[in-house]
Amino acid sequence: MTSQRDLKIALCVMIVLLISGIICYASFIPEAPEDPVRIMFQNKAGKVLFTHSVHNDDFGLECLDCHHNIEDDETYNCSECHEETGDEDLPSRTDAFHTQCKGCHEDGGAGPAECNECHAL
Ligand code: HEC
Ligand code: HEC
Ligand code: HEC
Ligand code: HEC
Repeated sequence: MTSQRDLKIALCVMIVLLISGIICYASFIPEAPEDPVRIMFQNKAGKVLFTHSVHNDDFGLECLDCHHNIEDDETYNCSECHEETGDEDLPSRTDAFHTQCKGCHEDGGAGPAECNECHAL
């Protein structure tokens, strides 16, 4: 016959197993950040299609080349820091994009630098 005491022990063991199961599961979820395939920017000047994963895979760029100024190796949206308006030290969201996108295309002599090559849609 099973005593109350045995049942309690069995219950404790089950709870411990359940908790350690949850902890193991949580700690093995891959932490690799998501890498969006493409991003469509909706804006007044005409939509801009940005082939995010092509830029990463084929053009040999590092995440932090664009997601710059980050202490913890995380990627953040530009507007976490670059507001619509901006100020002297911090370019506005639009200026940040134009400077970074066009800047690299012009420096590398590859990629669109004319308005309607990006604002195509
Ligand atoms: C050529 C520049 C560039 C490179 C390289 C790059 N990104 Fe991005 N990424 C962007 C831009 C621009 C955005 C859009 C940010 C915004 O809308 O504010 C973005 C957005 C993201 C987002 C957010 C998507 C969303 O919709 O919220 C994640 C996550 C991300 N990138 C991860 C990565 C990872 C991981 C890498 C490296 C494998 C990487 N990025 C490399 C430019 C880049
Ligand atoms: C964690 C905050 C943060 C995030 C996220 C961020 N920036 Fe910045 N960015 C800054 C700060 C602060 C400056 C001004 C100081 C400096 O140049 O580092 C800056 C400056 C810039 C400049 C001007 C650099 C120069 O040399 O004139 C560009 C262009 C730029 N950011 C583009 C982007 C783009 C595009 C994204 C998104 C892919 C982005 N930033 C995400 C904080 C951020
Ligand atoms: C650090 C460098 C770098 C940055 C930053 C960058 N690009 Fe590019 N981009 C390239 C290179 C290299 C090519 C390839 C040109 C070629 O081989 O024809 C390219 C090509 C393109 C093309 C044409 C080919 C395609 O994939 O559609 C578009 C559109 C484009 N980039 C948009 C953007 C936009 C929008 C941004 C900013 C959100 C951006 N790029 C930021 C390097 C960059
Ligand atoms: C390399 C690609 C690229 C080129 C070249 C480019 N743009 Fe942009 N433009 C962008 C991106 C990316 C954004 C940001 C969209 C967002 O904030 O979501 C933007 C935003 C804008 C905005 C802001 C619209 C709004 O909703 O506030 C205007 C206006 C604009 N661009 C005009 C121009 C003009 C004019 C030119 C030519 C002198 C030009 N762009 C060239 C990629 C480009």
